[in-house]
Amino acid sequence: MIERSLDDQSRARFHLLTRSAVLKKSSFIRLSKPLLLIACSLLLIGRSNSQDADRQLPVTGDIFKCLTEMTKSLNGDFFVDNILGNLEATTAVANSETGGDYPPGSVVVLVPSEAMVKHEAGWNAATNDWEFFELNVSEQGSEINVRGTTEVINQFGGNCFGCHVQARPEWDLICGTDHGCAPLPLTRETIANIQNSDPRCNKED
Ligand code: HEC
Repeated sequence: MIERSLDDQSRARFHLLTRSAVLKKSSFIRLSKPLLLIACSLLLIGRSNSQDADRQLPVTGDIFKCLTEMTKSLNGDFFVDNILGNLEATTAVANSETGGDYPPGSVVVLVPSEAMVKHEAGWNAATNDWEFFELNVSEQGSEINVRGTTEVINQFGGNCFGCHVQARPEWDLICGTDHGCAPLPLTRETIANIQNSDPRCNKED
């Protein structure tokens, strides 16, 4: 009788122990699942944003010129340049009716405060080597306010990449007027007015 009750006691203790172990285990799983998800997504974001320093072109504020010193595309209202001196290749893609990959060094601008620059092939796979810039422009020139790849947000709260990735693949993330991106809430006239009032063009030096 005594033996049995001891037995019962230890069995009960065993049950309690295993139950709490199970509880601990399931709460561990419950906690670790979201942690795992966060870790995985950080890994993915980290990967899509990983930039190869060896393939990065040096970009400072002064490479961004007054729009009238740039070349206007025939394929949209944007302007192009090439910081590696390969303007011909950049212009060829910008004017192509079938699209193409912009060469390294390409600079593309629609409105003075936003720009895209193409680094060397392999710099960042997610953006096909484009870097997005948000600039502060004034008569003194351009200052880089925000720069980066998939995470850059413009002054209206929009993610550059989120819109530009909608362009059909042959257009290399350039939206133009009919490449598949949702249109900007700006008329052609407003865009032209913003372009014509680029403060950098009045720079005195
Ligand atoms: C709401 C969506 C959206 C956001 C956010 C956005 N863009 Fe654009 N962008 C467009 C569209 C659409 C055009 C084409 C406009 C046109 O010509 O009608 C465009 C045009 C451009 C152009 C001219 C080349 C082209 O693709 O036609 C550049 C360069 C550019 N944007 C850079 C940026 C940068 C840099 C950012 C972030 C700082 C940004 N954009 C944020 C939608 C967006």
